[in-house]
Amino acid sequence: MLAPAASTSSPIDSVALRRALGTFVTGVTVITTRDADGTPRGMTANSFTSVSLDPPLLLVCVGKSAHSFAAFNSSPSFAVNLLHEGQTDVSNLFASKAANKFDTVSHDRIHTGSPVLTDCLSWFDCTVHRRVDAGDHVVLIGEVQAFGTSPSAPLGFCRGRYANVKDPLPPGWLASHGMIVGYLIEADGQLLLRSDGKGGWVLPSAKRRIADNELKLEGGDALTLVPDDTFLYSVFDVTDGDPGYLIYRARLAQDSASAALSAGLRFFPIDQLPYDAIPTREISAMLRRYARESASKRFGIYMDSNDGGRLAMVGAAQPWAPNSQS
Ligand SMILES: Cc1cc2nc3c(=O)[nH]c(=O)nc-3n(C[C@H](O)[C@H](O)[C@H](O)COP(=O)(O)O)c2cc1C
Repeated sequence: MLAPAASTSSPIDSVALRRALGTFVTGVTVITTRDADGTPRGMTANSFTSVSLDPPLLLVCVGKSAHSFAAFNSSPSFAVNLLHEGQTDVSNLFASKAANKFDTVSHDRIHTGSPVLTDCLSWFDCTVHRRVDAGDHVVLIGEVQAFGTSPSAPLGFCRGRYANVKDPLPPGWLASHGMIVGYLIEADGQLLLRSDGKGGWVLPSAKRRIADNELKLEGGDALTLVPDDTFLYSVFDVTDGDPGYLIYRARLAQDSASAALSAGLRFFPIDQLPYDAIPTREISAMLRRYARESASKRFGIYMDSNDGGRLAMVGAAQPWAPNSQS
């Protein structure tokens, strides 16, 4: 058995305690809020825990000595942004005392107005459910109002160091789960579709995630996308037993006219998409919604239903209605 690091005769050594607590493997989050004048505030935090599904609650612990403590302790809302494996620089920035942490990190208002990082593993936009005073920290319990997620690999943390998670997706998950990863790729008002060889048009799909802004499509084409401009758009299952779909929207780095594409790929004006030649009803419905949203430049993220369901609007602030359809 391990020797005790403290006993009743010797008080707790906080350095040793911290070291022991640090053996617990966690992810890394950036928690964000706004102070009274609307300035975004944020810090790196790994004290994140899910608490309840009904109602949907989570918690983070905020140190009272943090510069942003006053903002977290008074704002009616906050967001938790889980970081992916490529974001150690974001974690270091938000763990610093830098004055303008948000200047170089792209963020959005989604539901509560707390900053949601455009690029992250998953995010939860919360109203404050309760604050619990706990020693040198305050436990902030949030009720999730909107959230988003991606299949990226998480950034891990253990013993004071970042750690990569080996095999972040269960072996063969994408294949066995069968999710189809499709892309809505836009270039100057046109959308890229791929011929299915039977007179129909389908979304271009890819097996691997984007690396260095290059997307390798199934079928062989490699496209260069505008950096930091790929967003999750829709996650849904279809009713007839087809595998689920994970759909991203992205922009091509060059204009559609100069893109060198193989014969099966073609750009269509977004207001003239070939809906009747789209074999999957749900994809056709999603494309109609995409065309509508593209006209107003206000995109939603749609989870878990054929054509909408729960949604969070991304873009200019807009009231969010649970279970509303566009
Ligand atoms: C991996 C990691 C996890 C952290 N977790 C927490 C945490 O859960 N709560 C906390 O108050 N500080 C945490 N910190 C420390 C804060 O990020 C740090 O004190 C930061 O400077 C606070 O920013 P601010 O003073 O500008 O508010 C963590 C730091 C790192 C690197």
